[in-house]
Amino acid sequence: MQLISGFSKLSRAEKLEWLKHQTGLSDSTMKILEDHLHRDRDTQEIYGDLSENTVSNFYLPLGLAPNFLINGKLMTLPMVTEESSVVAAASKAAKFWAAHGGFHAAVKGHSKAGQVHFTWSGDRDELLRIFEHNREGMIQSVGSLTGRMEQRGGGIRSMEIRSTDPALPGTYSLFVEFNTADAMGANFINSVLEALALQLSQIVSGSGLKGELDILMSILSNYTPDSIVECFVEGEVKIFEEMGGGFSPLQFAQRFRKAVDIANHDTYRAVTHNKGIFNGMDAVILATGNDFRAVEACGHAYASREGSYRSLSSVQWSEETFRFSLEVPLAVGTVGGLTGTHPLAAASLEILGRPSAGELMQVVAAAGLATHFSAVHALITSGIQRGHMKMHLGNMLRQLHASKKESEIARHYFSSRVVSYSKVASYLDSLRKQNRKE
Ligand code: MEV
Repeated sequence: MQLISGFSKLSRAEKLEWLKHQTGLSDSTMKILEDHLHRDRDTQEIYGDLSENTVSNFYLPLGLAPNFLINGKLMTLPMVTEESSVVAAASKAAKFWAAHGGFHAAVKGHSKAGQVHFTWSGDRDELLRIFEHNREGMIQSVGSLTGRMEQRGGGIRSMEIRSTDPALPGTYSLFVEFNTADAMGANFINSVLEALALQLSQIVSGSGLKGELDILMSILSNYTPDSIVECFVEGEVKIFEEMGGGFSPLQFAQRFRKAVDIANHDTYRAVTHNKGIFNGMDAVILATGNDFRAVEACGHAYASREGSYRSLSSVQWSEETFRFSLEVPLAVGTVGGLTGTHPLAAASLEILGRPSAGELMQVVAAAGLATHFSAVHALITSGIQRGHMKMHLGNMLRQLHASKKESEIARHYFSSRVVSYSKVASYLDSLRKQNRKE
């Protein structure tokens, strides 16, 4: 493989030609890249322009999880995921809880933050005094950037200078809190921060204070502990009749609570436990064109807020009622960004009835609680592999090049048997041998 300059300037065909020359890609792989382009040129241009050096599209399924009763409203959730059991897990839990009051969700905060990181070699108190004196003027000076957001109910909510850490003397941040209404607001926040940084620098240099102020960087924070949603399901323990595994409703509830307790004390388990939540959340985040990396990074930091990584979900259980809840910070948008450009993100938002950002936060949390409930349910009763492998059977049959007829017979055979790759492979082998004999 050779270094190349100006790769991004090459046409798509030239990029592929170069790649083929460098890697010896087979004609069949080149055809796959070609076949995954959208047949409509304009649509392909939209997808191509989402990123740099696009040569094809990478498909993921967009599935539907029906029967989500969220705050009394019945909804069908669009979910994008590569994991075969996620949509089934969400749908199963949604149906169960729809019969028991559904998901109750509430947004507990909407605030997002951004920081201008800088160093100041002079006196801290003097800096703060000058800043306080100019705070309102600084906010007004970015009015041309914040005006439209203010009309939509958003804008700057607060602004202060914070010392970063005693370990970094002379290092500060201008810490700004924002409300970005229905937008995720990353570009808005970053533009405002850069303008505020310039203002701060000019104010300090024009003030005659002794010292050097050096702006290092201006960027939003993806940690949003004040943009938070709570979601819970609850019911009397007797609703857990027939949950499988031969456990009584009381035993099921006890085992469920124990599973959550373990995730609060064991990081190895907590990460996997929370991953079961992100299975559902990420799928809706992706379907609606939101930033799943930001949601993940923030959620995991929040799970560690008390010093060790813990469960994002909890169980509250009195004699009468079993309540399973999730509290998670989320920064999502339903206007702007990818929500306006990706045709399927727009379709997903339409499926959800064009929610506000707050409503989408509630839907995302419900999706997370649903997949999580199904995962813990399976783990403490039948075990996870039974359902997982059943969902995975189709993938295995495809990998083993099973015909339609063979797949049908194999699905029937494995409907009452444990599925594993080797068992499916040897079953197909014996089926094929038998067919050759006949
Ligand atoms: C698999 O994608 C998710 C689970 O591992 C979650 C869990 O263990 O709770 C099943």
